[in-house]
Amino acid sequence: MCGIIGYTGGRPAAPLLLAGLQKLEYRGYDSAGIALLAPEGIRLVKNAGHEGVMALELLAGKIGALPEASAGIGHTRWATHGRPTDINAHPHLDASGEFAIAHNGIIENYVSLRARLRAEGYVFRSETDSEVVAHLLALHYSGDLAEALRGALAEIEGSFALIVMSSRHPGQLAAARRNAPLIVGVGAEGEFFIASDIPAVLKETRDIYVLEDGEMVVATRGGVCFTDFAGNSRPKTVTRVTWDAAAAEKAGYDHFMLKEIDEQPQALRDTLSGRVAKSGAIDLGIAADFFADVDRVAFVGCGTAYHACLIGRELLEQWARFPAETAIASEFRYRQPLVDERTLVVAVSQSGETADTLAALREAKKEGARVLAVTNVVGSTVAREADEVLFTWAGPEIAVASTKAYTTQLEIMALLSMFLAARAGRLATERSAALLKELRSLPAKIEDILARKEQLRGLAAGLSDSSSAFFIGRGLDWAVALEGALKLKEISYIHAEAYAAGELKHGTLALVTKETPVIAVATQRALYEKTLSNVEEVKAREGRVLAVTRAENKELAAAADEVFFLPPVSDDLAPIITVVPLQLIAYYAAVRRGNHVDKPRNLAKTVTTE
Ligand code: F6R
Repeated sequence: MCGIIGYTGGRPAAPLLLAGLQKLEYRGYDSAGIALLAPEGIRLVKNAGHEGVMALELLAGKIGALPEASAGIGHTRWATHGRPTDINAHPHLDASGEFAIAHNGIIENYVSLRARLRAEGYVFRSETDSEVVAHLLALHYSGDLAEALRGALAEIEGSFALIVMSSRHPGQLAAARRNAPLIVGVGAEGEFFIASDIPAVLKETRDIYVLEDGEMVVATRGGVCFTDFAGNSRPKTVTRVTWDAAAAEKAGYDHFMLKEIDEQPQALRDTLSGRVAKSGAIDLGIAADFFADVDRVAFVGCGTAYHACLIGRELLEQWARFPAETAIASEFRYRQPLVDERTLVVAVSQSGETADTLAALREAKKEGARVLAVTNVVGSTVAREADEVLFTWAGPEIAVASTKAYTTQLEIMALLSMFLAARAGRLATERSAALLKELRSLPAKIEDILARKEQLRGLAAGLSDSSSAFFIGRGLDWAVALEGALKLKEISYIHAEAYAAGELKHGTLALVTKETPVIAVATQRALYEKTLSNVEEVKAREGRVLAVTRAENKELAAAADEVFFLPPVSDDLAPIITVVPLQLIAYYAAVRRGNHVDKPRNLAKTVTTE
């Protein structure tokens, strides 16, 4: 999500920090800042972008006014908690101005920490979750910066890569990680960099220490010292990075798409974080009366986001028995939709800038509907214009083909549906607890799928020479099939269509020959026999079937030519993991065909035209 960098050494820190942050620009960011450990104390410059001028450009114009210093920290922010404003930009200082922090990640328990610190007299300046760390450092400080950091770490829950410094310790940086990357770069004599990403330091050094979860580092001009959070020393060896700058931006991956597919377990963990209260109740951070008197829900979005809407509607209908519809945003806006002040319109958009989704949102508001946005970009137009927002915390998505934004949208759909079902008295506490437990287990299930990439690469090879493919499924599987087909067509350029499995025989079956791969998605137990029959229909026309299904579905596995087994999962939450093999099949097919995976022809990441 955010990019962080720290420097200690003999050269002026500000230009080095700025240059490092510029190398992280490709990841997307909205604000930037630098704090220097100057002899007269910590000096800070930070800002969001303004009026079309990027935040780093504005920052570059300010660093000349900073005093000379040979240690400091810098940050590019991708807003999650709090809008992209100058004040919310990092680094953050404690009230005394003696401690500065830069943070990447999410502090899950920031609300309770902030309340406690406020009660003890600490004054907060920003809306961020991160600022608590600066105050915690001050609270725990008794002469040793690393000890203060350990004290703070013992109190915070969530994910973090943190770099901290204090005017009481000139030339010293301390840093720690949990579920967010952090590396130390060894520069020239007595010079160390600490950063979230290798590209930030690659111009200065290729000698890197990689921190593991639960590790800390203290860096001074005299050297670096690695420990765990309890202070026990951790031996480490330097790794020599051989990637070129382009590969380094992708953390060694060939494509952003594969990197983003791999990031899904963490994106799901982050998106869930802080949204379940200790009592087990879902806390969406939205006042209860926002949902009062709602009697219908309409989900709107485009492309992949629309496919997430389809799942949202199903879950809401099943769990809450709420009348709900889905609409493609570009259709919704022109069809004089039946919405009024008792309608909740859920506008789903990764970018938050899609013109049709925005127009649908405005249309709905004009009719008096309440609009809830689900978006990945804090400060986006959809986020600003909606009445309430639920953010997916997937981090910047760079590949045009959406992957981690989709799975996190599905997670939000599940949370929202559970919340509304519980509110309507239709979701028993035990069922809700079971669903939440399963939501927490999904990242590990996706990791299991990701560990079987080679099998998926082989399956993709089998269809990459086809000119056409069909995806079939029923119920939630059909919605996932639609997303699988979209992924395949947009990056591999293979014609792909998804059908409700029962529809195939009403026309499309005429196109099925032995040249036609049919990807059958079958996770829904109540519909399994029916989908199996549809697969038999395809086999009778000599179509080639690749089944994505449960391990217990032996008849389907026997009928299909190839099969990919999913980890055990409930029917309702299956879509969140089922899509992952489909993403990977599309990815490997596109790579095999030599396509521009991250920037497919004719497509843009953000569609701001109607
Ligand atoms: C497909 C894809 C697009 C987007 C669509 C909406 O992989 O990314 O179909 O889902 O253009 O974009 P957002 O979600 O930004 O509104």
